Amino acid sequence: MRKFFIAGNWKMNLLRDSSVALVHQLMDQLQNTSSVDVAVCPPSVYLHDVGAALRGSPIQLGAQNVHHATEGAYTGEISCAMLNDLGCRYVILGHSERRAIFGETDVDVNVKLHAVLKAGLTPIVCVGETLQQREAGETQQVVRGQCTHSLSGLTNEQMAKTVLAYEPVWAIGTGKTATPAQAEEVHADIRKLLATTFSGSVANAVVIQYGGSVKADNAMELLGQPNIDGALVGGASLKSDSFLAIVQAAAKIKK
Ligand code: PGA
Repeated sequence: MRKFFIAGNWKMNLLRDSSVALVHQLMDQLQNTSSVDVAVCPPSVYLHDVGAALRGSPIQLGAQNVHHATEGAYTGEISCAMLNDLGCRYVILGHSERRAIFGETDVDVNVKLHAVLKAGLTPIVCVGETLQQREAGETQQVVRGQCTHSLSGLTNEQMAKTVLAYEPVWAIGTGKTATPAQAEEVHADIRKLLATTFSGSVANAVVIQYGGSVKADNAMELLGQPNIDGALVGGASLKSDSFLAIVQAAAKIKK
């Protein structure tokens, strides 16, 4: 049985004091939501402070990116061992901003994915089409291609541990959300692909988050879809009220 998973991607927002303050608000206000896994992914320079503030709380820590090598001459990069050292559990990989702004390819994502799994961290692998691709009727082909190449070489066991996030690029930070039916169609298709590439039971076990302008007022409808198992939240994760409202929406839905 899949468990709802709501993660906040803070991107390059907040400073140390506001990060720690947000975490304290989240911890104070988080009600009994044992049916939902919750994580926050602050900028890497604040992983230590946020991790320390989260100690003893059910909220998990995640990073927004990582380098695939174990160590070495990679100025400005951080390794999986460093994330483990800081108490991280999750790592976002292949976010569309990493792909579009920093040129990350499916091959890069795949190399990082293998490193992350080897290090015992849980990856959140992002896929999603641009508006142009959707309008050209290429959504299925693009998302299937990203999944196939990004997830290449995983064992069934590794795949079952990997979280996916379907994030249509045109819905990220734009206030435009995919309709629940549009999102569900892609989520169901990803699961179908996983069933043929891996196995039916793996496909059934994989948590697939939706991301792209998820807010308190659209969360319930999106999370109510059978193949949507959570949300990767950007803008609405920067305020405790809006983030917790999404967590509460998930807690109200029976999987
Ligand atoms: P958004 O971002 O919620 O601000 O659209 C989502 C994401 O980029 O993961």
